[in-house]
Amino acid sequence: MALVSMRQLLDEAAKGGYGVGAFNVNDMEQIQAIMEAAKETQSPVIVQASRGARQFAQDRYLFHLTLAANELYPEIPIAMHQDHGNRFDTCKSAIELGFTSVMMDGSLKADGKTPASFEENVEVTRKVVDFAHERGVTVEGEIGVLGGVEDGHGAGGSGLDHITDPDQAVEFAERTGVDALAIAIGTIHGAYKFTKKPDGSVLKMDVLIAIHKRLPKTHLVMHGSSSVPKDLQDIINQYGGKLKETWGVPVEEIQLGIRNGVRKINVDTDNRLAITGAIRKVFAETPEKFDPRDYLKPAREAMQKVVALRMQQFGQAGHAQDYKPLPITAMIKGYADGTLDTRPSVVGV
Ligand code: G3H
Ligand code: 13P
Ligand code: ZN
Repeated sequence: MALVSMRQLLDEAAKGGYGVGAFNVNDMEQIQAIMEAAKETQSPVIVQASRGARQFAQDRYLFHLTLAANELYPEIPIAMHQDHGNRFDTCKSAIELGFTSVMMDGSLKADGKTPASFEENVEVTRKVVDFAHERGVTVEGEIGVLGGVEDGHGAGGSGLDHITDPDQAVEFAERTGVDALAIAIGTIHGAYKFTKKPDGSVLKMDVLIAIHKRLPKTHLVMHGSSSVPKDLQDIINQYGGKLKETWGVPVEEIQLGIRNGVRKINVDTDNRLAITGAIRKVFAETPEKFDPRDYLKPAREAMQKVVALRMQQFGQAGHAQDYKPLPITAMIKGYADGTLDTRPSVVGV
């Protein structure tokens, strides 16, 4: 069975009223953790690789590991996605490698830091959409800019500096024809999102709801959606780490988003925390050990636990066998004949 198009996977999520976690991977153990969690919860999955991940692991390894996962877990629909593509060529090379989805993050210039103009964003995203859709590949765009700098994505500052303007989101969706749209509603990449326990007003959920009403067929994406659980922070600090006090995105806010059009939820930091805590624990408690399997196995298990919990919380659990992946030719046809067109003027809002 082939990898599934992310568009089909998100269309199915919309039909079922659930969200799908998009988990970042950099190595085999992370892919294994996601797949075991998917098997345990019977979930469709999105495996995503950032530019940094493609460089770190060599993207061909990550791609073929994902194909191996597809062979080993034929009952699980798997989409493979480029996270935060910064230029046309990044998306093109991911598509040529076989990814079934790409994000063109044109909200920032190619340096991944400086906010781009609206026109620049439309232009580069449109170019990626044309190239991708001709090949049946899904495109996620971004409008508005996420805060945070620690992972190289975002324009710095607080998450509230560049909230998405709903009018711009509508114009952007109309002019680009993206399948999925990342919006900025106050989340930040990385562990340091909020300095106090966030209450219901911390994210601009009203903006998200307004955008969904006007773009009912464009799947919304929440980046920076790790919850940064206290117990994972505590394990790291208990075993010699030095994390400062911090709070992440409450799961209930994500669930509110899912009830209002959020279909893809990006999670990386929570898994990083789980892995690092598990490794630190082995190192601290059994310093005589030196076989990498002695710490990679608990690390993989710790990530599996986080991913399985998110799959339950996002609602994707139990939906792995609702549908069969469509061949890529069906997606190419759907884009060409307009049946997959989500532009607001076409779907009539
Ligand atoms: O959006 C960022 C993801 O957490 C990936 O981060 O670029 O350090 O791989 P990275
Ligand atoms: P977190 O840092 O909150 O896990 O966000 C990850 C992300 O948005 C990847 O694109
Ligand atoms: Zn992101």
